[in-house]
This record gives sequence, structure tokens and C-alpha cells, in this order.
Amino acid sequence: MAAVGSAIGLGNVWRFPGTAFNNGGGAFFIPYFVALLTAGIPLMIVEYGLGSRFQGSAPKAYSKLGKKFEWIGWWAVLVGLFISFYYCIILAWSWEYVYYCAKGIFTGELPWGRGEAGQYFKEIAMIEGDGTSFAGFNGKAVAGLLATWLVVYLSIAKGVLRVGKIVMITVPLPLILLVMLALRGLTLDGAMDGLAYYLTPDWSALGDANTWAAAYGQVFFSLSVGWGILIAYASYMPKGSDVVNNSYLTSFANCGFSFLAGFAVFSTLGYLGVGLNTPIADLQTSSFGLAFTSYPTAVENFPGGGHVQAFIGFGFFVMLLTLGVDSAFSIVEAVATAMHDKFGADRGKITIGLCVVGFLMGLIYCTGSGLVWLDSTDKFLTDYGLTLVALVQCLLVGWIIGDKKFKDLQDNINGRSEFKVGRFWMISLKFVTPAVLIWTFYSVVTDILANGYEGYSKFPLIVFGVLPALLVLVLSFVLMNMKGVDDVDAD
Ligand code: PHE
Repeated sequence: MAAVGSAIGLGNVWRFPGTAFNNGGGAFFIPYFVALLTAGIPLMIVEYGLGSRFQGSAPKAYSKLGKKFEWIGWWAVLVGLFISFYYCIILAWSWEYVYYCAKGIFTGELPWGRGEAGQYFKEIAMIEGDGTSFAGFNGKAVAGLLATWLVVYLSIAKGVLRVGKIVMITVPLPLILLVMLALRGLTLDGAMDGLAYYLTPDWSALGDANTWAAAYGQVFFSLSVGWGILIAYASYMPKGSDVVNNSYLTSFANCGFSFLAGFAVFSTLGYLGVGLNTPIADLQTSSFGLAFTSYPTAVENFPGGGHVQAFIGFGFFVMLLTLGVDSAFSIVEAVATAMHDKFGADRGKITIGLCVVGFLMGLIYCTGSGLVWLDSTDKFLTDYGLTLVALVQCLLVGWIIGDKKFKDLQDNINGRSEFKVGRFWMISLKFVTPAVLIWTFYSVVTDILANGYEGYSKFPLIVFGVLPALLVLVLSFVLMNMKGVDDVDAD
């Protein structure tokens, strides 16, 4: 349940529908499922397998595969940690929306007023700077950030038992809200036009390398694989828990949620398109624009009056919060487990330390240039960093550790699973996924070298993108070489 909570996050609501829409609509399901079957699920099986085989966090599991591989585990969890610094900012904005929509339920006024959702979001996120200066400080976002980290802390500070209880709320609640929003969306005028946009296949997209890259990227991000989270979570499962079954369950629950989110979002956009007499293609359909501008604009046109509208807005942002919070704490949990394994320090103290650091680092994004900086970090750590970590994990397990250890891991996984993994799994890990990832990486790098980054200035990209990406790598080696409580031997 906690792994499902980690997987199902903001990515399912704003990332998946937008990505599908921009990459061939209904045709996107083909690369998406190929990526899911050849990369997402096989790697998830590896992560669950490592966690339950070695009973520990990512660095511990990798160091048991070979002392010199420990850095890969640190790298995975640190990339995640840096991503949590900005992931929590999106949750900080959501708190504000929740708060003002809750007020609106009583007053009958929507916080953004009529036709001003875009402007309102600019104020909430304080989009002012161009990324080259601080351009002011967003005090309101700081309050939301504090609330976010407090909830993250309270959820994980008392250990996995509390996590188990929290996810009993944070997993079903957003699902219920999403079903309600989808039903509301589907019964609006224009819903079918929206769905046609979402689902009509554009087969030509399948010939485009970017579509495939987007599918693999989405699968990794969405399943939370490659961040060492699932290794830590699997280490908490009772001995002998079924690895393969759990991987399929987590993956399909996650993808089902994404698919349903597409219905909620696109039916509503269809309604908005009809109401504004605007083609859906011209609405903001990706990234933050979708959740924070288009959706609120649609809500303000919903039938039923101000009180009902505020209530629906409230439901939507509570959904975002509950979706995101268990994803955010899963990252912190992965790092905390890693530090606890290595240094033996008290878990509560580690957690509080990480949450304070997370809050302080998040302040960087609470400035007028925050959104530009957030975008830069997102590009380098999520788009590239995560894909690279996944590639290294594949190469390590598929090739570097050698056939004997690979076989040992496979036997171990099969020993605890009802469905066995065999040749398909092996081929996916050894050949298909590395090949696709290397090729994706190659096309991205050649593209950047040839065209640079349109619309981005160099300063934020270097300071908030390249530097943190290098920093996590250096830190991984530093942490590996620090002395731990029990220096494990290689085998
Ligand atoms: N899977 C989450 C989402 O879809 C993102 C995430 C990845 C969160 C990894 C935590 C760790 O939003």
C-alpha cells in the first residue's frame, strides 16, 4: 500500500494526461505499455527483489552486491531527495488552494474570482523573476512548505507502522475524489470532445524518438523506480513476501489511476473548451498549467453556484495533497533508511534532520524566480538524472555483477513469488531497457549540444540543474567512503 502511495502522485494527474496528449493521444498507450512491460515492471521486480533479499536500503543492498557499488544506492536516494525539495513546493501551493477553497465553501466565492485563475496562480507561485535574480520572497508559499514538511515528518517519524496507517488514508481518499471528479467531468457538456482529444490515436507519433523517450521517462517517474524507495519498502515486508505479484499490483494500480485521471482532466477540459469556445489544443494542457490554471477555470464555470464550485475546487486540491504527500515521504524514508543502515544513528533524529534540510532547501524555490529554478532542477534531476540512475542499475544488475549473482537474485525472487520471472525479464533488463535508455540519452545530449535550451537562460540551468546533478554524484562517493557501523563484506 505504501509503495502504491509512493507511485501514485502528482505525476499521475498533471504529468500523465499531458504527456499522453502531447505524444500521440491514444497512440501513446503503445509506447507506454511497452515501457511499462520492458522497463518499469522488470526494474521494479529488481528493486523489490534486492530489498527483500538483502533486507536494507539501496546503498546497503548495492554494497552487498559488491562493496564498490554502494555509491549507486546513494546516488539513487540522493537524486530523489533533491527532487523532494521542489516536489514539496507544488504541495505548498496546493495547501493555499485548499485553505482558500475551504473558505469559499462558506462564502460561495472562489479564491481566484472569475476568469482570473491564471493570474491567481501567478500570485500563489509568485512567478516574477526570469531566473537570474531572487525577485522577491513568497511568504505564503513558505507557510505551505512548512505545513508539508511537518506532515511528512509526522507521517514517518514514528516508523513504518505509522506509515502503514497513513497510507490507508492517503491512497484511497484521492482515488475516491478522483472517481467523483471523473463522474462530474463526464456528465458535463463537451466531455466527449475532451475525451476524443485525449484518446484519438495519432499513429505518426510512434515514429518519433521523443514519444518513446517520454514514455520511458513517464514510467520511471510514475512508478517511483530508480530512486531506491522500493528497495527500502521491500526490506520492511515480511520475509518471503511475493515480489513479482507485488510489482504487478503496484504497477497496474498506478497505471489505472493515471488512465482514470486522464478521463477526469480531459472531460473537464472538453467542457472548458466548449464554454470558452476555444480549441482544446489551445488550453494549457500540461504541467502546472493544467492543475493550477485550466482545472480551476473549468471549475468556476461548473453548474451549481459558488458554494458547489468551491467544494469541487477543495476536493481537487485535497486530492493533489493526499496524492503528493505519500510520494514525498517515501523519498525521505528511503534516505532515512539508508542513513540509519549506514551510520546506525537514531531514525527519529535522522528524519528530523532531513525534514529541516528539505524545508530550508525548499526556500530557494519560494522566491520570485522559484518556478524557473524548479524547472531547471526538474529537467536535470528528473528527466536526465533519473534515467541515468535507472540505466546504471540495469547495467549493474544485468551485466556487471555477473551471471552468478544475477542468477542468485533471480532464484531468490522466484523462490518467493507465485509467478516466476524468466527469459523475458532477463532480456528486458539486459538488452531492451539499456538499449532504449542509451539511445534516449544519446538523442537528448546531441539535441542539447546542437540546439541548446530554447527559452532557458544559462544561469539557472547551471546553478539549479547541472550543479545539483553533479553534487549528488560527488556526495554519493563521499558517503560510500565514510565509515559505517558495520562495514559489510562484499558477498
Ligand atoms: N511517482 C510519483 C508521482 O507520480 C513521483 C515520485 C517518484 C515520488 C519517486 C516519489 C518518488 O508523482
